[in-house]
Amino acid sequence: MSTDLTLLGLESSCDDTAAAVVRGTPGNASVLSSVVQGQSDLHADFGGVVPEIAARAHAERLDTCVAQALDQSGLTLSDIDAIAVTAGPGLIGGVLSGVMCAKGLSAGTGLPLVGVNHLAGHALTPRLTDGIAFPYLMLLVSGGHCQFLLVRGPQDFSRLGGTIDDAPGEAFDKTARLLGLPQPGGPSVQKAAETGDPKRFPFPRPLLDRPGCDMSFSGLKTALLRTRDALVAEKTGLTEQDRADLCASFQAAVVDVLAEKTRRALDIYAAENPAEPVLAVAGGVAANTAIRARLETVSANAATRFTAPPLALCTDNAAMIAYAGLERFALGQTDDMTLVARPRWPLDRTSPAMLGSGKKGAKA
Ligand code: KG4
Ligand code: ZN
Repeated sequence: MSTDLTLLGLESSCDDTAAAVVRGTPGNASVLSSVVQGQSDLHADFGGVVPEIAARAHAERLDTCVAQALDQSGLTLSDIDAIAVTAGPGLIGGVLSGVMCAKGLSAGTGLPLVGVNHLAGHALTPRLTDGIAFPYLMLLVSGGHCQFLLVRGPQDFSRLGGTIDDAPGEAFDKTARLLGLPQPGGPSVQKAAETGDPKRFPFPRPLLDRPGCDMSFSGLKTALLRTRDALVAEKTGLTEQDRADLCASFQAAVVDVLAEKTRRALDIYAAENPAEPVLAVAGGVAANTAIRARLETVSANAATRFTAPPLALCTDNAAMIAYAGLERFALGQTDDMTLVARPRWPLDRTSPAMLGSGKKGAKA
């Protein structure tokens, strides 16, 4: 039996400053504390995350976040075995703040430093929450990411496909903005959709006619904008029912695309002959009840277990970074003071990094 490892994790790649302590072994670890200080209030007036504001806030808050995480875990730095930090991908100023803070802590304590890919943090979360065995299929779907990953090992990821433009969370947020609903858009669009007719507006299901698991959501956004403008021009305004129908029709299109692409990804995954097939979802959009329900059906049809980590560990947090660091550290891998912050860092080294970056940062 291997000995427990205790890792402190730091996360600052987007608009959440976070620190956490995780203890255990690969596939059998628990979260001793997880502190997340969101910044949505700082960015609310700007309609998206402002990188410079985010970076300054991270630099100001990381040390108190770390102190809180240690305090809540009942531990001190002397109980920690290594310091894990998000080294990318993300908004570079924020990533730099975290890497510099972790380097400072490492230099001051002599503790080893472990650089972590933020996407690996998300992708390995089902091992932290449910001890899921490799290989499993992961759909990461949030405001900044959207991709299918075949997870074969702690550092063995194959990207089966993903968005070629916007992430679905961005499309939900934009939809809410266009319809005058509150941010974040996902929950408000989901709520409005409950009383809407999903068939009233036949929005496009992009890329379903093409093979593979790639997706596109920017055309859907434009279709919604055009339909809204046509309704407004026709009747000089939107009724509550129009709003509900637009939300329901938009959500139905996203659900259809994710369901069909997931079915295809599950087909590819089946070729791995997993002993106990698992589809795991993570990311803020995985909170959507309509999306969850359809993915559960698609998984059941493929005799695959469906799992979604609790929402607090699905969205950005530092427990996932501490845990991904634990997996690396258990393999004897550490970094030194040459660790660099990377704005782009694709998990799958065989797939080219995507060009362009959205309001929430790099879409690796
Ligand atoms: O993972 P997350 O907290 O942050 C990053 O994007 O990194 O995801 C936030 C995104 C937002 O775009 C938000 O609108 C979306 O997740 N979201 C939802 C729901 N709850 C949050 N989208 C659809 N339905 C929801 N219920
Ligand atoms: Zn994330």
